[in-house]
Amino acid sequence: MTDKLKQLPPAILTLDDKSYSLPTLIGAEGEKAIDISKLRSQSHYVTLDEGYGNTASCESAITYIDGEKGILRYRGYPIEELAEHSRFVEVAYLLLNGELPNSQQLLEFSTNLNESSIIHEDMHHFFNGFPRGSHPMGILATMVASLSTFYPIPDRLDTATEQQIVINLISQVRTIAAFSYKKSIGEPLVYPSYKLKYVRNFLNMMFSSPVRDYQLDDDIVRAIDMFLILHADHEQNCSTSSVRTAGSSMANVYAVASAGISALWGPRHGGANQQVIQMLEQIHADGGDGTEFINQAKDKNSSSRLMGFGHRVYKNFDPRATVLKKQCDKLFDKAGVSDPLFDIARKLEEIALKDDYFISRKLYPNVDFYSGLILRAAGIPTNMYTVLFAIGRMPGWLAHWREMLHGEQVIITRPRQIYVGEPLRRYQDIEQRP
Ligand code: SDX
Repeated sequence: MTDKLKQLPPAILTLDDKSYSLPTLIGAEGEKAIDISKLRSQSHYVTLDEGYGNTASCESAITYIDGEKGILRYRGYPIEELAEHSRFVEVAYLLLNGELPNSQQLLEFSTNLNESSIIHEDMHHFFNGFPRGSHPMGILATMVASLSTFYPIPDRLDTATEQQIVINLISQVRTIAAFSYKKSIGEPLVYPSYKLKYVRNFLNMMFSSPVRDYQLDDDIVRAIDMFLILHADHEQNCSTSSVRTAGSSMANVYAVASAGISALWGPRHGGANQQVIQMLEQIHADGGDGTEFINQAKDKNSSSRLMGFGHRVYKNFDPRATVLKKQCDKLFDKAGVSDPLFDIARKLEEIALKDDYFISRKLYPNVDFYSGLILRAAGIPTNMYTVLFAIGRMPGWLAHWREMLHGEQVIITRPRQIYVGEPLRRYQDIEQRP
């Protein structure tokens, strides 16, 4: 336990006429916790908390969220200030190192990212092995895991090697994503260029071509950079918890990052941004304003959900959604850039926020509700939206992996369970079975 946690008077738990004194703690922002790490050994009781919504899996100094107040800070800095004043590469440095870089540190970090953006030439053949139409998240998870075969990791990681592997991953995840897109449309690969910064390099790899001049639009570059900042970390979400769990077995960092990518793919997590656009496209195709869809989303007998709404932690506006909506306003106010889906999204939000079903359940727009519109404006294909989320989240995953690895001790994640299956019974030969 770090010295940042302060002790409070113990909690007294009475079980089977016995009292147990459980330590209680308070975090840097006043969150209170009961330390149950010795509960089972003392009382033979375990706690049950499906989805861990009431359970802190670790102490962390990386990101702070207050779901009731709609607060999100990376290393103490409000997300709104980072989104407005910072850039993704600087935020990645902040998440990984705990402090904003000075000019020299930022230049070195940015240059290293650029110099690490190439993947091994022999990896290009892997792309040919995926069936046409393969989902880019399946390709990304596979290719990131395969980095461990081309760049074997030594058993004992010194600091410099660990830092370089982290930089390689943050840089190469972009290259793998762009290459998978080029392969999917049968166009030649466009290599990263040392002349271009992180986001410009990615967009250039995605959209430039030997036969077509591709002009980078500054507003689109800024919007994608901000998208990546807003997705860079989010404390112990599903994919980051998967990273910490895989990392706790001391699996190599490429396998750990691949675990994060796989968990993120789910439609209830990172896959929601793709689902939001598909939902908006369907409403647009049906010619409605969304009222009918909202009624379906409220209907217990319908499997429909208002994608991009609701959150395990935010019971107020997701601050990222507020920033992204402003960014959409700016982007779509530009001459010639309009999107009927943005109008539908705003109408859906307006209707839902007046509807008691959503109000009573504290369901507000989350990061995914507007993010897809930014990617759409950039020309990113819908099936790559969650890939962009993964590119953004990579620094956060790796910051948590490193925080766990360098904690006081690496404890392998191994929750208990409540068994509700069959009592003891004896094996029967097949002839004796009914
Ligand atoms: C991300 O954890 C993170 O930090 C994640 C993330 C990150 O940065 O890593 O923020 C990214 O994953 C954002 C969430 C993206 N997912 C979606 O937008 C999918 C749609 N949202 C829902 O699936 C849902 O809101 C969740 C999964 C996000 C949260 O689910 P909860 O908190 O477990 O809520 P619940 O399933 O217990 O639902 C509570 C009630 C239920 O109704 P009742 O049983 O009380 O009648 O709210 C309803 C739900 O049916 N509900 C919705 C709804 N979300 C919840 N009803 C309609 N539409 C929705 N979107």
